[in-house]
Parts: sequence; C-alpha cells; structure tokens
Amino acid sequence: MPTPPTTEPSAQPHRPARRKLRRGHRKVLEDNTIGERESSSPGNVTSSAGGIERRPAPRRRRIFDKYGWYEMRSEGAWSTTRQAEAWNLATNRRRTRQDGVLAGLNTMTQTLEIVDAFAAYGTDTSGINIVVIGDIGRGKSSWIKTVCVLRQLVAGRQVVVLDRKPQAGYGEYTPLAQGLGAESIRFRIGGSGACLNLLDPAISRGGNHDHGLEGIVPAGQEALVLAVLTDAMGRTLDEKEKAAVGAALVAVNTAAQAANTEPVIRDLAMRLLDPCPADGTSFGSRWSQRALEWGLEPGLALARLADRDLRGLVDAPTSPAVRDALETHPLVHFDLSALPTDGPALRVVMTAINTWLANRLAARSSRYQQTILVVEEGWHVAGGSTGEVFRANLKLSRGLGLSTVSAFHHPADQPAESPARALMGEASIVVLFGQSRADDAAETVRLYRLPAGTEETLMQLGRGQSLIKMGSRDPFLLSHIRSPWEIELTDTDSPITGRPRPGTGGGLVTGSTS
Ligand SMILES: Nc1ncnc2c1ncn2[C@@H]1O[C@H](COP(=O)(O)OP(=O)(O)O)[C@@H](O)[C@H]1O
Ligand SMILES: [Mg+2]
Repeated sequence: MPTPPTTEPSAQPHRPARRKLRRGHRKVLEDNTIGERESSSPGNVTSSAGGIERRPAPRRRRIFDKYGWYEMRSEGAWSTTRQAEAWNLATNRRRTRQDGVLAGLNTMTQTLEIVDAFAAYGTDTSGINIVVIGDIGRGKSSWIKTVCVLRQLVAGRQVVVLDRKPQAGYGEYTPLAQGLGAESIRFRIGGSGACLNLLDPAISRGGNHDHGLEGIVPAGQEALVLAVLTDAMGRTLDEKEKAAVGAALVAVNTAAQAANTEPVIRDLAMRLLDPCPADGTSFGSRWSQRALEWGLEPGLALARLADRDLRGLVDAPTSPAVRDALETHPLVHFDLSALPTDGPALRVVMTAINTWLANRLAARSSRYQQTILVVEEGWHVAGGSTGEVFRANLKLSRGLGLSTVSAFHHPADQPAESPARALMGEASIVVLFGQSRADDAAETVRLYRLPAGTEETLMQLGRGQSLIKMGSRDPFLLSHIRSPWEIELTDTDSPITGRPRPGTGGGLVTGSTS
C-alpha cells in the first residue's frame, strides 16, 4: 500500500539544509534555528539584504564522530591563567532585568544597570534596605538624590527625606524639594518650626492598629517615650519607673480622648510628678500609695526635655504640614539641618519621624504604597536607645513596604559592636563609594565579606564611581550617570568653589560620569 502524503511538518525539518551545507554549497539561511545553531563558528557571518549568508560549517569527520570526539566532556582539563582569561567573555553576560530605575553604567560589562530595592527583592535580594558608604565628596548624596529620590518618584513611589546636612542655611535637599514643588518641613528648637508630637495619636500606644497589617507592630508611644527617657537620664529605667510611665501614659491618653485633644509630653511629665490618687490603684492596695512616687525621676527628665532640649520639636500637637505630609506630595522633605548635632534633639526627632511613619504605614491596611525613607548621616539614628527603636522599625521594612536608605562615612571609626555597624550590616543593597583610608576600606571588605583585594579597588574609585553588592549577586562597578537637570540639582560644590550652581546663571557643567 502506498504511504499517504502527510500534512504534518517533517520530523527533521533542517536535514536538507544541513546536507547542502555539508556539501560545501553557499546558502542564504532564512531559518532562524539554523542561524542560531551555526553562529558558533566565528568569523563566517556576512549580512545581506535578504538574510544572513554563511560559509559552510567545518567538516565533521566520521571516524572522529564515531569515537565521540565532538561530544562535550564532563572531566576537567588543565589550562593556564593566560589561556583561561578568554573565558571571562562568557561570564560578562548581559542582565535581563527590565523593571526598576536605572542607576548608571556597569563598567565591567558596559551595560546599563538597574539598582532598585523593590525590583531586586525576591530575585537578587531578600530585603529592601540600602546602605551607601564612602568618603565625603565622592558622590554619595548625588547617587541617593537621583537613584533613590528623583527616579523613584517617577516610578510612583513615595519618598521621605530626613535632611540633616546644612547647605547655604538650609538642608541640602532644599533645591531638590523646590525643583519638585514640595514643601520643606523645617524643624527648629524653640517652637518657630514644625512639631511632631511624641504622643501623636497616629503613633498608637503599643504599636498595634485595629485595621493594621497582621503581625506588623512598629514601636508605639510607650517604647518611644521609654527610649527617649533612657537616653535623657543616661541609664535604663527600673521596673517601678517603667510601670509608672506606662500607667501615666494610659491616663493622659484617656483624658485627652475624652477632651477631644492630643496628649503631649508635658501632660505626661505633670501626670508623673503630680499623679491623681487613683493612678496607683492598678498596682494593688499594698502598693497603690507608694506607686505614686515611682514616676518622680522620669517626670523630671521629661519636664526638662520639654523645657529645653526638645522645646518646640516633639512637645506640642503635630503641625498640620507634618500630619498631612504623606497625602500632599510624593516627596516629603523634613529639613533637620537647624538642629544641633550634640544633644538629643536630632536623634529624638529622627526616631520620632521614623516611628510616626512606620505607624502610619502599618495602619493603612487597604492602600499599599512603596515608600523610601532617606537618612543621610545615618550615625545619628544608630546609637542609644532611640537608635534601637529605629533599628527595630527597620526590621519591619518588608511588611511595611518601607525601604530605608542610609549613608555613612569612615566605618572604621565605629567600634566593632556599635549599633552603627549593626545598621550597616543589615542592608541588602550596599553601595560603596571611594575611600581614601586603608582602615576604612579594610573594614568595609570585612563587613560585607568582599573578595580579598577589593580594598585596593575601593581606594581607587573616582567621584561618582561605586562598587555595588546586591544581595546574592557578584559585586559590580558602577559609573553613576546623571541628566543635566540632575547635575544641576545635585551640585554641592558651589559653596566651596564659590561658583554658582550649574543652571543658576553660571552656565551648565557638562555631565561627567567619572
Ligand atoms: N558622577 C559624578 N560625576 C561628576 N561629579 C559628580 C558625580 N556625582 C557627584 N558629583 C559631584 O561631586 C560633588 C560631591 O557630591 P556629593 O554627592 O555631595 O558627595 P558626598 O555626598 O559623597 O559628600 C557634587 O558637587 C556633585 O555634583
Ligand atoms: Mg553628602
């Protein structure tokens, strides 16, 4: 019986083409599969308008084929470093990631790199916090302002900046905020600036929120007040003092709720110094009288903070600008540059903002928003009890969708067990700018377990160049690229050089990426 003609595609569709090539005929290949297969022969590709013209593949000898000469081998082979150098070509593959914001040029592969904590999460990293380390003037702030602020806003994320560094009388992010039409919320001791109430109702007493996210409990009022008191009193509070603070906090919150007002720390201080007779009843009849004495020292410390160090910063109802900040603009700029670096003000305000933000994010169960908190000069939030609160909040970053970006310099100056080192070690993405001191470079290599010899690379990095370690990925060198507008907004040299900022009358500086 004759075989019926089949309509199925041939089981071996490429055979004829291969046979022709073997015979040494030139052929215009229109079949992509064959094109891919044959492209392994270097130097035999010429393009023509209709397709790719190729020379025949090298002849395969039957006798060699029989003994498996052309098959892949699993056993190793000896080589020399000089020969093996060529294999680097194979490791420099292009990244396939398409999502997230661009950061600059990978100088090893000459491809554009995306450095985006939210996009990298799940594939490259298991966390979303970023640490930037490097000497002053190496381009850390410029990198953060562009990659973690401006470009993130374009990607629909909200950014909150704690701006500590003064520049021309204001925080250094002021030109950026002005350029984007965002209000700068300025904090000043004495009451002429903004205020964030330490006992703001948005910060729940214990960090729990009725309709909040399951299992996500940031620090609440009680943890925050105890941390501030621990730092202010220079010692940890004993159990009696903690119990008195807890009971007074319940009392002032209840009283304020009944009067439809916000409690403030002066109310708390007065309740500890001058308690109502009923305040001790929760400790039982045996202790109810004596318990009224337990709050004396914490009360005095809080009264002193409200009168002096923290006056006008965290001791009055929250300013409307702060309360509505997250709703009014995607960029929230807290200008803390007027606060003194010595004393508790800066650290308390930074931790209060961080706790307020964490509580606000934890309370909204229905609306998820990827948020970035920028803390340049991360030292200020690293130490003390308030630093511990900050770090505890940091651990909730994934649940809150809150990526914290903090910057540091001279890591070797921090003692090995310091909270600052712990903070640096908790990041999933590490951006390392140039470091001129050998001890800093060595400490960085140790901290992030970088390959031996990386110290030299870190010490040779130029301005705007960084070594980036993203989770499980191999570290790579990145040259930061800025647009002309970004160059204008990130310039911090004008106060030193005396030249006006580019784009503000002094002519535009060309965008070097070195
Ligand atoms: N990629 C770059 N190429 C050239 N200059 C840069 C680059 N990045 C930053 N700069 C410039 O270097 C100066 C210092 O940068 P800055 O980000 O303020 O450093 P840092 O925060 O590390 O002290 C700024 O004036 C900035 O314009
Ligand atoms: Mg800086």
